[in-house]
Amino acid sequence: MSPRIHAEFSRQTGIPLTYEAIHAPARTFESQLAQFSREEGAGANITLPLKSAVMPLCAELSDFARRIGAVNTLTRRLDGHWRGDNTDGLGLIRDLAERHRIEIRGRRALILGAGGAARASAFALLDAGIETLLIANRTFERAVALADALGEPSHVSAIDVTHLPDAGNVDMIFDATSAGHDGVGPALPAQIVTTNTICYHLSYGKAAKHFIAWANAAGATRTFDGLGMLVEQAAEAFAIWSGVRPDTSAIFDQLRADSFDGATE
Ligand code: ATR
Repeated sequence: MSPRIHAEFSRQTGIPLTYEAIHAPARTFESQLAQFSREEGAGANITLPLKSAVMPLCAELSDFARRIGAVNTLTRRLDGHWRGDNTDGLGLIRDLAERHRIEIRGRRALILGAGGAARASAFALLDAGIETLLIANRTFERAVALADALGEPSHVSAIDVTHLPDAGNVDMIFDATSAGHDGVGPALPAQIVTTNTICYHLSYGKAAKHFIAWANAAGATRTFDGLGMLVEQAAEAFAIWSGVRPDTSAIFDQLRADSFDGATE
């Protein structure tokens, strides 16, 4: 969807931009990126599974990219070398705070998963003032490792999935697992959800479907997939490249209309 999103930003702002998808297998990625720089490509987004692999190819990294260990946005410097940023975390926060008007400060949240998506979200939520972060993951040791890496023991703890029924209510649940890609739903106890619990899947479309259905069945009235986050992280990248942050509402509405997937808002 990114070429379509950036075409809309370009149209809206009047800033010319050609944005195309490039297939880059891991073994040729480095030479393709060097070639792209020689051709004076101004910037790029990097997607899975190359977000960490690109880091050593960057001459400069933003603080957030360094902390989370992943880059999703490259900007070509005047010397032809790349600067790496990561806009995923800010994309999530903007979607929550600005599109959905959700207060993050002081809230109690549960993150499911301990991979790259969970890591970016966890750092961003802590930066945005979340009070308590519980991290649950199929492989408990990875949840512990992520909790340790976050370095905020008074706000963050890893929780074994078997203990979730005793965890009490949470204000927000973020599904940052890739389980939905295999058509699998989360095995979660319904009692962690109240009607006020915000349930958010970081992916969109099919991958988010099971989680959204589970959350609706458990009684949540505010469920979201990651379409808004996708659009917001793109807007942050566009702003890095052009200096202008585009309005995201029109393209979000168009994409939502084209891909209804059961999110309640
Ligand atoms: P990403 O960078 O997209 O987050 P990842 O690093 O492969 O991808 O992480 C995927 C996450 O989804 C992991 O937390 C993984 O759990 P494990 O650490 O136990 O592998 C989780 N995950 C994947 N499939 C799952 C499933 N069927 N049920 C529960 N969790 C799953």
